[in-house]
Amino acid sequence: MTETSPSQHQPHPPLRPHYETLDEKQRFLRDVFDKSAPFYEGIASWGFFGTGGWYRRGALRRAGLKPGMRVLDVATGTGPTARAIADVTKAPADLVCVEPSRGMLLESRKLLPEAAYLQAGADDLPLADATFDFLTMGFALRHVNSLDGTFREYHRVLKPGGKVLVLDVTKPENAFGIAMWRFYFRDVMPKVTKLFTRSTDASYLMSYYWDTMEQMIPPGDVIASLEGAGFKDVTRRLVLGCFSEYEAVKP
Ligand SMILES: C[S@@+](CC[C@H](N)C(=O)[O-])C[C@H]1O[C@@H](n2cnc3c(N)ncnc32)[C@H](O)[C@@H]1O
Repeated sequence: MTETSPSQHQPHPPLRPHYETLDEKQRFLRDVFDKSAPFYEGIASWGFFGTGGWYRRGALRRAGLKPGMRVLDVATGTGPTARAIADVTKAPADLVCVEPSRGMLLESRKLLPEAAYLQAGADDLPLADATFDFLTMGFALRHVNSLDGTFREYHRVLKPGGKVLVLDVTKPENAFGIAMWRFYFRDVMPKVTKLFTRSTDASYLMSYYWDTMEQMIPPGDVIASLEGAGFKDVTRRLVLGCFSEYEAVKP
């Protein structure tokens, strides 16, 4: 995968122990996220020592989210980013959430009932052109089939001047950071998830996460894909060595 072949950007190569084809990848993900949905809020909370809401609100403010903006949150999951958006804009009814897993949608609806929900994937949004001022995707970029197709959809549904913010965990840049990152996400998270949830599915999801994180394409390719989709002012802010905040503007 190189920056000269933007039409080829997949988040990572097919992960054959888990699925064979891209169609199977989406079925696999819906199934594993459906089964893990009842446990996800807990994992997202203790997995990041209760800092998830604070971090997401900070990232949204750094990217310029303000009250009055019409926002689309893609890959909502149980809604941690959606709730952070509602905290900043103070207008949950102006928020639209898109999520392919029915189980995840059910959980998010319980916690943020005022928002609008649609069951769909990131690369085929059932939404009109030029509708949103701000679009977010929190910790889900690895799950799409094609970054290029996804970012073209984001470009389509944003208004001119609208902004996209993609949050993700990325590989640290020094040996100590990489060792800590591997220890925590590969060795600790699946075991502690099993201990706390007693769910084999949730623990398996954490092991799958590690496989996706280890094989995720480099940040330069994510930036190239955003630029290839027509975005300008594409930047990546690195926070705490492994949290990447990609921002881009629709001209
Ligand atoms: C880790 S959760 C992210 C939840 C939330 N955005 C957050 O900030 O924590 C990843 C979510 O991505 C969703 N997902 C999987 N494949 C997707 C796709 N192709 N398009 C959009 N979302 C997808 C999953 O169902 C899951 O709910």
